[in-house]
Amino acid sequence: MLELHEQCTVTRSPDAVSHYLADFTSAADWDPTTVAAERLDDGPLGAGSRFALTCKLPLGSIRVDYTLTHFEPGRCLCLQGQSSLFSVDDEITLRAEGEGCHIDYRARFQFPAPMERYLRRHPARFTAMGRRTMAGLATALQDANPPPTAQADTVRADRWLLPGLAHFTRYGYRRGQQRWAPCSTDIRGRHMVITGATSGLGEACARALAQAGAALTLVVRDRPRGKALVESLQAASGNSDIQLALADLSLLGEVDALCEQLVARGRPVDVLINNAGALFNDKTITTEGIEQSYALLLLSPWRLTLGLQPLLAQSDAGRVINVVSGGMYTQRLNLRQLTGQSARYNGSVAYAQAKRALMLATRHLAEQWREQGIVVNAMHPGWADTPGVASALPTFRRLTAPVLRNAQQGADTMVWLARAREAGEVSGELFLDREPRSTHLLERTREGEQERAALLQLLDGYRPGQGIPSLSN
Ligand SMILES: NC(=O)c1ccc[n+]([C@@H]2O[C@H](COP(=O)([O-])OP(=O)(O)OC[C@H]3O[C@@H](n4cnc5c(N)ncnc54)[C@H](OP(=O)(O)O)[C@@H]3O)[C@@H](O)[C@H]2O)c1
Repeated sequence: MLELHEQCTVTRSPDAVSHYLADFTSAADWDPTTVAAERLDDGPLGAGSRFALTCKLPLGSIRVDYTLTHFEPGRCLCLQGQSSLFSVDDEITLRAEGEGCHIDYRARFQFPAPMERYLRRHPARFTAMGRRTMAGLATALQDANPPPTAQADTVRADRWLLPGLAHFTRYGYRRGQQRWAPCSTDIRGRHMVITGATSGLGEACARALAQAGAALTLVVRDRPRGKALVESLQAASGNSDIQLALADLSLLGEVDALCEQLVARGRPVDVLINNAGALFNDKTITTEGIEQSYALLLLSPWRLTLGLQPLLAQSDAGRVINVVSGGMYTQRLNLRQLTGQSARYNGSVAYAQAKRALMLATRHLAEQWREQGIVVNAMHPGWADTPGVASALPTFRRLTAPVLRNAQQGADTMVWLARAREAGEVSGELFLDREPRSTHLLERTREGEQERAALLQLLDGYRPGQGIPSLSN
């Protein structure tokens, strides 16, 4: 048996440290040998939870299956790891020290005899691995990442259409993933409102945030589906602080009623995620006289965000996350197309116009609310395989199937914007794969000051029940 023994002290509570470590997939964040990690079972984290880690060794990678065998929150965690080459028993003991937590980490390895003999003769590599692992854990728990900035090669890629588009695929996600800083921010009990959580990206986002312990209000339009979702999230995460709120978000009357209801409940909102959306191939006018894409994709998040502003302002660090789309890169703002008043309706154009306008609204509110400490950012998920894509864009889905992201990959930046401490340090940006991105890939899509002003006039001028004012030009 060979033992690694490392210790450190971090400025986090023992409870927060144990919560972070109990989800052992976090090892991908802090252990330099772990290149990938996944949870193998469902349900609240605790003794019996299982994880698979892919670890890099000098001669290739190896899968190690871990079981959390003992878990005392704030005090101790034990894990048993098994691979085809070695087994390992990890014992992590925590105790309060000053304002922080002292971590004592022992890993006892059983290797085949020849390998153990070799490692005993050359201990330096083995012990260096232990030191690097502990240093990685201490850095992750410091939670002191710098504010996100765009990397030089990303800025270069966004100057050209094809490299920029390549980042929309699952390969773009993997590229981004290799650069991510660890995320250990504790969001237990932070109140997050998510629209469109019954499917696709919204559901993946709700699952990740429920698992991390956030208090969720899920805005859905179908009560039975909403109830089933809440039960499923609670069973998977053990998180009981998950509520439903009902609204058809393509009807502004229902959006306004939702705001009144949430304001009356009075719970401050730490994060609002405007995710609900759809691409409508056929033009439909809602019962309120508004073209559906415009209503659901722009007026709805705009009014919901303004309506919840009093609750966002009550948070110590309110955040708004608007889900836009790479489709907006094809469009220059055009109010006629945006509001469904052009001669011919095209669903993809209407969708992309609304997302382009939502990006501009994001920038505007970010400026307006900077002094209040509410940050407003947008993200786009790249191309992700979701029920929405399957129903609205079946041909696109068929052609791009090998490169589409899965829903978790598409939702990752949404989750990160809601969770990461450093994501609260920037406002008015567009993100893909946790990195600020250009809002234009083509010069011709850049709007002018007048067009921006006209959009804001249109949004500010909306009054319930009046439909859409016809545009003079
Ligand atoms: N998937 C992608 O590749 C991709 C790319 C770019 C942008 N996006 C954006 O990502 C967001 C999520 O899309 P997704 O791909 O996850 O689509 P999805 O699987 O169809 O999910 C859309 C969600 O929005 C909800 N929703 C739609 N209309 C609504 C309404 N009138 N009232 C209330 N809720 C409504 C849906 O509720 P129901 O379950 O009740 O229908 C569902 O929960 C959208 O804003 C979309 O534009 C997606």
